[in-house]
Amino acid sequence: MRNDNISTKYTVIKNGKIALADLNQQFSEDVLRGLSRSAKALPCKYIYDETGSQLFCRIMELPEYYLTRCETELLEMHKDSIGSLIDGERCNLVELGAGDGKKTKILLEQFLEMGIDFQYCPVDISESAVKQLASELNDKFPTLEMNGLVSDYFDGLRLLSSQNHARTVVLFLGSNIGNFSPQEAEAFLIRLRDSLNHGDLVLIGFDLKKADIGLILRAYNDSSGVTEQFNLNILKRINTELGGNFDIGKFRYLSTWDTQSNAVKSFLVSTCDQTVYIEGLDTSFLFRDGEQLHTESSHKFSEHDLSRMAAKIGFDVIRNFHDSKRYFANTLWKVKK
Ligand code: TRP
Repeated sequence: MRNDNISTKYTVIKNGKIALADLNQQFSEDVLRGLSRSAKALPCKYIYDETGSQLFCRIMELPEYYLTRCETELLEMHKDSIGSLIDGERCNLVELGAGDGKKTKILLEQFLEMGIDFQYCPVDISESAVKQLASELNDKFPTLEMNGLVSDYFDGLRLLSSQNHARTVVLFLGSNIGNFSPQEAEAFLIRLRDSLNHGDLVLIGFDLKKADIGLILRAYNDSSGVTEQFNLNILKRINTELGGNFDIGKFRYLSTWDTQSNAVKSFLVSTCDQTVYIEGLDTSFLFRDGEQLHTESSHKFSEHDLSRMAAKIGFDVIRNFHDSKRYFANTLWKVKK
């Protein structure tokens, strides 16, 4: 039964600084910049429109993609401890890159059961993902207070810091942090810390370094080709949203392990010499046969990397949680100011 006294509200902020229109403008600027570079690259966040988000949901279900299963197991195993550690005065539970929120539901259910007083604020770049999540959560947890936001992480953080907010707990699950370069990850964590107050908490997912590189690579190169479709989606978006004429069949997906940066690097590779025209940018781009367009890096971390990062940026490590194979970690850090 829905309790109408409790606001189960869903807001997409479309005005002011945090607007979908801004995202579109940013998209064309980033595509122009990324395709003009000598080593072509596009920011991976643009893979995630409605189709991209759906394809990512399929990736999370793939037998090869161990990350989601490990994190799900970890959350199931440690949800009580996580709940006890975040319990306290009322808080905003902000989730960056919420996606389909499947793993988050484990925590939400636990927190509600424990009677923790919180409001859930999912932030995601995909409007359809936020809408879908809001409606599912409305049905599943009628008493849950909710306020969704369509924006990238940084606008989400900007909003956080502009609010005279209550205690905040930030969830940054999956291995989204691994998609930043180490410098970007550090800059991001500094901004995150700056947007928060002393005593606020963050729970961050990290895929850990492991000896079996084959296992890691298989997670990014599944046999059913979903990951390829996921990466190609960025070209489809350029075609539909910016009037590009990419021939999707003339690119193939490639993922490699980079020992130096401890990352899987994903590329779309041109299978011939070709010129692509993008009407919205009124620009043509030449792709050579075999030329790589970098779409994403997925960094892996050691336990040592995690504690060093926390100390350097100014977080206290409260606790690291692991799955039974210790493939994945969620770390709970407290802001120290
Ligand atoms: N954040 C996810 C990760 O790094 C995104 C992802 C999954 C991904 N599969 C991918 C990115 C394949 C590029 C290619 O694990």
